[in-house]
Amino acid sequence: MMKQRSDNEKSVFKAAQGSVSWKSPANIAIVKYWGKYPVQLPMNPSLSFVLKNSVVKIRMDYDINPADHFTLAHFSINGNQNDAFKKRITAYLEGLTEHFPFLQHTRLRIESTSTFPHSAGIASSAAAFSALALCLCSIEAEIRSGKSVEFFRKASFMARLGSGSACRSVYDGMVVWGKTPYLPGSSDEYAVRLDDQSVHPDFFSLRDAILIVDSRQKKVSSSEGHALMHQHPYRSARKNQAENNLKRLLNAVKEGDFHTFGEIAENEALSLHSLMMSSDPGYTLMHPNSLRLIEKIRDFRRETNIPLYFTMDAGPNIHLLYPKEYSDRVVPLIRDELAERCEDREWIDDAMGRGPVNLGKEA
Ligand code: PMV
Repeated sequence: MMKQRSDNEKSVFKAAQGSVSWKSPANIAIVKYWGKYPVQLPMNPSLSFVLKNSVVKIRMDYDINPADHFTLAHFSINGNQNDAFKKRITAYLEGLTEHFPFLQHTRLRIESTSTFPHSAGIASSAAAFSALALCLCSIEAEIRSGKSVEFFRKASFMARLGSGSACRSVYDGMVVWGKTPYLPGSSDEYAVRLDDQSVHPDFFSLRDAILIVDSRQKKVSSSEGHALMHQHPYRSARKNQAENNLKRLLNAVKEGDFHTFGEIAENEALSLHSLMMSSDPGYTLMHPNSLRLIEKIRDFRRETNIPLYFTMDAGPNIHLLYPKEYSDRVVPLIRDELAERCEDREWIDDAMGRGPVNLGKEA
């Protein structure tokens, strides 16, 4: 457990004001995290990459006064005050005082803006909690006059406490969360980035086109889905499957083996949805159009030999994964054949991103 210098911290607080701002991306998992223990510790290791265009920007103004108590004075999303989310963020921040003792005496104002299309059915919580955690680490660095070497590790740890998968959004490139013998230094408490030697350069041009099949809020939340894994009849088989898929995926990513990468992505997506269907009670988040699209993607791959694969999150939307060099074949396929199965023909052109950006005091 990450222990911070907290004992004498209270006595050394000085009044301070300032403003920090970060832009942080969503991520999409190839090996899925499914099932958790308190507090937000994963049942199995996962691997994801961050997106380029699906980001949340957070500006945090802070006013530290040793005589004051913690207050979240303002919270808005895209200019609108949001009371439900403000409650969730207040509870999150109140739970972090052990790790950020300055928070006990801080008045915060938080403004959040998101590039996610309105209700596209894509979870923005990973982007939001990673941006929040990065802002808190920046405030800590400002009042201590120095960014610690563990800055991103701490941000990942803190983001995890808000939303598990958020811990994978504080880095660029490919990221692993969860302890596994196949990656030294991996941990259940925070995510680690795969170093440049572990990712073949071919993967830097990875595209992710998100086909919006249904943008409505899902019937069963991820939290409820994670909880159902505790009594799941396939629980131990799932842990083995994820371990084994991660081992093969790490090798494929290093070797530039896009076919194995894609096969694992599809296997994981369909396994995730199978686990939901075989939970007790079982449920489906797939839509008939998700299945029709999967068939079309597989037909196209068989007929053209183009490495076009898919993954899915806990929802009906389909993420199309392919190397950029095939964009001139894949984009027409989306327009001519796949978009008709999307809600209002909507799809989002995204790609592997470069990770979060510190916007300083300007944003
Ligand atoms: O971080 P959560 O609690 O929203 O769970 C996310 C779970 C999946 O998106 C389905 C898989 C993953 O690894 O991101």
